[in-house]
Amino acid sequence: MKRYSRITGTGSFLPTRRLTNADLVAELATKGVETSDEWIVERTGIRARHFASDGVHSSDLGLEAAKMALQAAGRVAQDIDLIIVATSTPDMVFPSTACILQNKLGANGCAAFDVQAVCSGFVYALAVADSMIQTGAAKCALVVGAEVFSRILDFKDRTTCVLFGDGAGAVVLEASETPGILASDLHADGKHVGILCVPGHVSGGGILGDPLLKMDGQAVFKLAVGLLESAARATLAKANLTEADIDWLVPHQANIRIMQSTARKLKLSMDKVVVTVDQHGNTSAASIPLALDAAVRSGQVKPGQTLLLEGVGGGFTWGALLVIL
Ligand code: ACO
Repeated sequence: MKRYSRITGTGSFLPTRRLTNADLVAELATKGVETSDEWIVERTGIRARHFASDGVHSSDLGLEAAKMALQAAGRVAQDIDLIIVATSTPDMVFPSTACILQNKLGANGCAAFDVQAVCSGFVYALAVADSMIQTGAAKCALVVGAEVFSRILDFKDRTTCVLFGDGAGAVVLEASETPGILASDLHADGKHVGILCVPGHVSGGGILGDPLLKMDGQAVFKLAVGLLESAARATLAKANLTEADIDWLVPHQANIRIMQSTARKLKLSMDKVVVTVDQHGNTSAASIPLALDAAVRSGQVKPGQTLLLEGVGGGFTWGALLVIL
């Protein structure tokens, strides 16, 4: 009998410090950086984001999301045999944020590692966990997306600092005789490294180069829409399904205009798209599990429905995953 993996619980966590566009505009003005609520809303759909306090790391946000997901799944930390954390803002250079989270959770002993695929990280991590469950290497996985992107933002660069936020989302993924995850499709093309990156690196105890996020927004936008459409179509084809079979699109929450363009290409009404970018901003690898948990808890998304998760981000990386909830 084929072995599948199912999402049995979701959770999410946002730091308490919430900044509306008005709050951010006022804060940036003190640094001589000019922007406006109108510009941010019109170009991105973002109205607010959350920033973690000093000393709060990705593993701290991930821990709260993980506890909620475990509770929803009716599991305890000791049931977990695999932890994968998708993050581009790890607590340390090493060890992995997954190891730090594992210790905070009290799930010591299970396999734990990070996936670094920037905004596609959660889709990558879920696909890897699904593969490990299918092969029998794991049976109860915790998959987390956690980011403190505020730490790598250049608050003098208005073209990027208004876009991102901090947060975490998590799912418990368990072995099952019924699906569950139906198909996934992952890609990367390293020739696009320069359009979205944090180019600095650690050397001799300091950072060489720039440790803050750089982005060519228009180049990212143009690439993102086409790649998201192709990943969505490839994933549906692998499952012998079509766009008509999708109950909900749960896209990476980067920009409402990217989501609208993708939905249009897939002939999906925006009524079938889970949108949280307005309240969270772009939380990179955390954005999909944050959106998923919000939709599950509000009752928007229901058990038995078919969801297409899709992400795109630095690398360039992109991917999609089809799952029956
Ligand atoms: N406030 C006010 N004005 C601004 C701001 C700001 N925060 N940022 C840029 N501008 C100005 C620019 O200086 C420019 O002014 P000019 O015409 O006088 O030169 C004008 O606005 C237009 O700038 P563009 O860069 O052309 O604006 P665009 O419509 O492309 O929107 C944006 C920029 C929102 C970044 C868009 O390109 C985008 O969404 N790209 C996708 C990138 C993305 O979402 N990345 C997230 C990470 S990757 C991922 O998650 C997929």
